[in-house]
Amino acid sequence: MSKTLAIIKPDAVEARKIGLIVNRLEEEGFRLLAAKHTQLDDSEAGEFYAVHLERPFYEPLKKFMTSGPVLVLALEREDAVAHLRRVIGATDPAEAEPGTIRALYAESKERNAIHASDSDETAKQEIAFFFPALA
Ligand code: CMP
Repeated sequence: MSKTLAIIKPDAVEARKIGLIVNRLEEEGFRLLAAKHTQLDDSEAGEFYAVHLERPFYEPLKKFMTSGPVLVLALEREDAVAHLRRVIGATDPAEAEPGTIRALYAESKERNAIHASDSDETAKQEIAFFFPALA
């Protein structure tokens, strides 16, 4: 078993897709270890996305991620990181495989419904960031 972190982003929360997305994750075999419904502030979003600091989309990304509530999920499953990334699809919903969460619910590359950790190492850091008790 391994762990990963997902964030249902402000666009999907606003569109009332939390239930559908969590249902899909459970159907995919993920166990929910912890969940937090919260609104990130600028410093939390900045720290979480620090790896993108030099990218042109860093400021708009922070602005979007702090624009409304999010649901942060710690998830467990066999091969959790790779499986979740398959289930959510490509960053840009126009390129996401049909049936993936982003193909179904994302609006654009910026407003793309869900975040998922991109490696086991990142998953560890991201879970510790939101759920220190699980680290
Ligand atoms: P996420 O998986 O949350 O990680 C970084 C986010 O930056 C990514 O999803 C996108 O929503 C966002 N983003 C915005 N613009 C871009 C871009 N041009 N390329 C990659 N990611 C982008």
